[in-house]
Amino acid sequence: MGGTLRPGHRKLSRRGDIQQGLNRNKVHVLLKKTGSSSMGPRAKWRKSEIANLGNGKNANWDMEYYLVKWKGWPDSTNTWEPLQNLKCPLLLQQFSNDKHNYLSQVKKGKAITLNNNKALKPAIAEYIVKKAKQRIALQRWQDELNRRKNHTGMIFVENTVDLEGPPSDFYYINEYKPTPGISLVNEATFGCSCTDCFFEKCCPAEAGVLLAYNKNQQIKIPPGTPIYECNSRCQCGPDCPNRIVQKGTQYSLCIFRTSNGCGWGVKTLVKIKRMSFVMEYVGEVITSEEAERRGQLYDNKGITYLFDLDYESDEFTVDAARYGNVSHFVNHSCDPNLQVFNVFIDNLDTRLPRIALFSTRTINAGEELTFDYQMKGSGDISSDSIDYGPAKKRVRTVCKCGAVTCRGYLN
Ligand SMILES: C[S@@+](CC[C@H](N)C(=O)[O-])C[C@H]1O[C@@H](n2cnc3c(N)ncnc32)[C@H](O)[C@@H]1O
Ligand SMILES: [Zn+2]
Ligand SMILES: [Zn+2]
Ligand SMILES: [Zn+2]
Repeated sequence: MGGTLRPGHRKLSRRGDIQQGLNRNKVHVLLKKTGSSSMGPRAKWRKSEIANLGNGKNANWDMEYYLVKWKGWPDSTNTWEPLQNLKCPLLLQQFSNDKHNYLSQVKKGKAITLNNNKALKPAIAEYIVKKAKQRIALQRWQDELNRRKNHTGMIFVENTVDLEGPPSDFYYINEYKPTPGISLVNEATFGCSCTDCFFEKCCPAEAGVLLAYNKNQQIKIPPGTPIYECNSRCQCGPDCPNRIVQKGTQYSLCIFRTSNGCGWGVKTLVKIKRMSFVMEYVGEVITSEEAERRGQLYDNKGITYLFDLDYESDEFTVDAARYGNVSHFVNHSCDPNLQVFNVFIDNLDTRLPRIALFSTRTINAGEELTFDYQMKGSGDISSDSIDYGPAKKRVRTVCKCGAVTCRGYLN
């Protein structure tokens, strides 16, 4: 937010004043200030978080005051500002939305009851301050994700559902992270010398399979068939039609809080054509023995991040619980819009395919992305492709996918 703070603002910066303001039924705004240490009237406003702590109508005071939290300053330096000092319509709107959301939750019986008028205002205040802090934390996380990712599509984060903030033990990675003892070969042993990889005998043919893509960059091979893309040894350039997964996610995606109790989920912010590459599933690469060990330690939720690489052997598993990309947040559906494929690019070791998720149909902007946790690269439902640990310990998770064909459980 730009603009200059107008002269004549009041400064009530102590916690006691804040409480006093609350009791006097003021409207408060949490705002943040940029670098300068000056708290004077010419201080620049940039970003703010708004907390609506009352209805603003007051018998004793003729003006509405907003609590301002200055960026980079502790709460003890918060100040109260009259409405005319604020040049942040978006934040005021957010403030009003937060209050509205809170009150509608109250009405639905999710929060405190409306009868208890005395408790209501501090409760709204608390909610709005938490919401403001959550918004800052999610924005920081979104910035971090976008700094770390190395693909084209942007990553957004949104929670309009509850007060959950960023996950505490999750680290964004772009590619497999092998654990000690596992080596991922990063240079292929063979590369093509085609002048046109679409028409000539190219890398897929060398591996005994068909080229996976059509001219529109859509996958045309059936699930269960491996993808062999051109690699760093190939003579072709970046525009080769056989280089799709290696270019990374092209779509802007949003990690959002689901409203059906599935925690975080992922939705696309743009339309995705059918049979298009959407994202790769990455995580730590561990041995099956290690997966067995972790599977027993993890609760049922953690277990669903273990993805067995069972294309040709079952020696390795991808664990996306702590290290992963956006795919960490993709939920399960019994009628999914993404399908798993095994991909080989620079690593031609068939025990260690890369896992790519392709759309099975057109996916409209705003739709949640899902894949079938039990339908792995083979296209068949195989109960051993996901490691749930010893049978006696297995707790079945009820599936909330809502599909007509829902199987009832995730596992
Ligand atoms: C790979 S994670 C997906 C991201 C997860 N929702 C989160 O908040 O991090 C898998 C977990 O999400 C939840 N989940 C995913 N799909 C679900 C579904 N269809 N029904 C119920 N819970 C689901 C379960 O808690 C499951 O253990
Ligand atoms: Zn090529
Ligand atoms: Zn090639
Ligand atoms: Zn289901």
